[in-house]
Formats: sequence, C-alpha cells, structure tokens
Amino acid sequence: MEKGLFISFEGIDGSGKSTAAEKLCAYLREKGREVVFTFEPGGCEWGKTMRDILLHGSYAPAPRTEALLFAADRAEHMAACVFPALERGAVVVCDRFADSTIAYQGGGRGMDMESLAMLSDFAAAGRMPDITFYLSLPVDMAAARRQGQEDRMEQEKKDFFQRVADSYEHLAQQNPERIVKIDATCDADAVWQQIKDKIDAFLQY
Ligand code: TMP
Repeated sequence: MEKGLFISFEGIDGSGKSTAAEKLCAYLREKGREVVFTFEPGGCEWGKTMRDILLHGSYAPAPRTEALLFAADRAEHMAACVFPALERGAVVVCDRFADSTIAYQGGGRGMDMESLAMLSDFAAAGRMPDITFYLSLPVDMAAARRQGQEDRMEQEKKDFFQRVADSYEHLAQQNPERIVKIDATCDADAVWQQIKDKIDAFLQY
C-alpha cells in the first residue's frame, strides 16, 4: 500500500517550474519529509538515453514515435523510481509528467488527446499525481526567460508553444481538483509564495 505523495510541476519551457520545484523540495525536507526530486523525460538511469534521443538527437522522430518514446520513458521511470519511492512513504516531486504529453504531443503536435491519455495511463499504471502545480505565463514571456542552448522541443515556433499553453489552460480548467494554476508572470519569490500557500493548506502545516 502506497504511503507517499506524488507532486508534479507543469508549464511551457521557460515558465520557471524547475526553480519552483527545487524550492518545494527544500521546504518539504526542512519539514522532515523524505523527498525524491525527479523529472521526465530521463528521471531514471535508463531514461538518460531516452532523454538524449528525444531532446538532443539530430533525428526528429514521427509524432507517434515521439509519443511512444515519452510513454516508454514514463513507464520505466514509474517502475524504477516513482513507485518504489511512494511505497517507502516519500514525497515525489516530478518536473513534468502526463500533462506534458497532452499539452506537447496533443496540443503542440496535434495528436489525438484521448489516445495520448490512454497511452500515458498505461505507462503510469493508472497513477496520476496527487497535486500538480501548473505555472502559467504568456509564451512571449517564457521565450524571453529561456536561457542557454535550445533543445529540440525548444526550437519549435511560437504557434507550437501557443497551442501547448492553450492545452495546459484547458487541462487546468478540466481538472481543478488536481491542478493548481500558478500565476508565473511574477518574480520567483511571489511564485514560491503561491505554491507554499497551497502546499501548506494541502498538508495542513
Ligand atoms: P525540460 O526537462 O527542460 O522541461 O524539457 C523537457 C521537454 O520535453 C519539454 O520541451 C517538454 C517535452 N516533453 C514532451 O513533449 N512530452 C512529455 O511527455 C514530456 C514529459 C516532456
């Protein structure tokens, strides 16, 4: 029987979710919880190769292939990392999860969202996060915040990211019991304050 808590972070590239996730991990550790920080794609040892193929390879796979590779990475990540940690009672903080597939492969690439949801459900053995923080901000602001060399997804055009962002907004509206929408247009401290308020209420700290 699982005793842990599964938290995911979502948002378009440049939304600041990785920084926010790090702050949440530090906060929960201070509270004495065992925290496992992980990410998709590539959160488990075997997934590193998958991350390279998906984001840093020179070859752009067909959309269905891409969706299947993200799903394969998720299946292994759940089996090797997330489920064992949840069974130990840890808090798992995951930078991206199933909503990324719906937003990027569904919204961005235009693939059928119902099929993608089924694929992701199969990969994750039906386990969805208990709570998801979605960092919402306009695509122009996110693009301006992105730093360093762009990976294969980040090289997509503005209309691709607009469709991804629209899909995230839709997902947040459809799943208000799980997805907490965070206004990410403000600075990192204000973003963190919104997350802290929610997690305090959720865990009754
Ligand atoms: P990140 O680790 O910098 O957030 O990059 C991961 C990239 O992979 C990001 O552009 C979103 C993309 N992605 C998908 O397209 N589908 C997925 O299911 C996941 C997990 C990520």
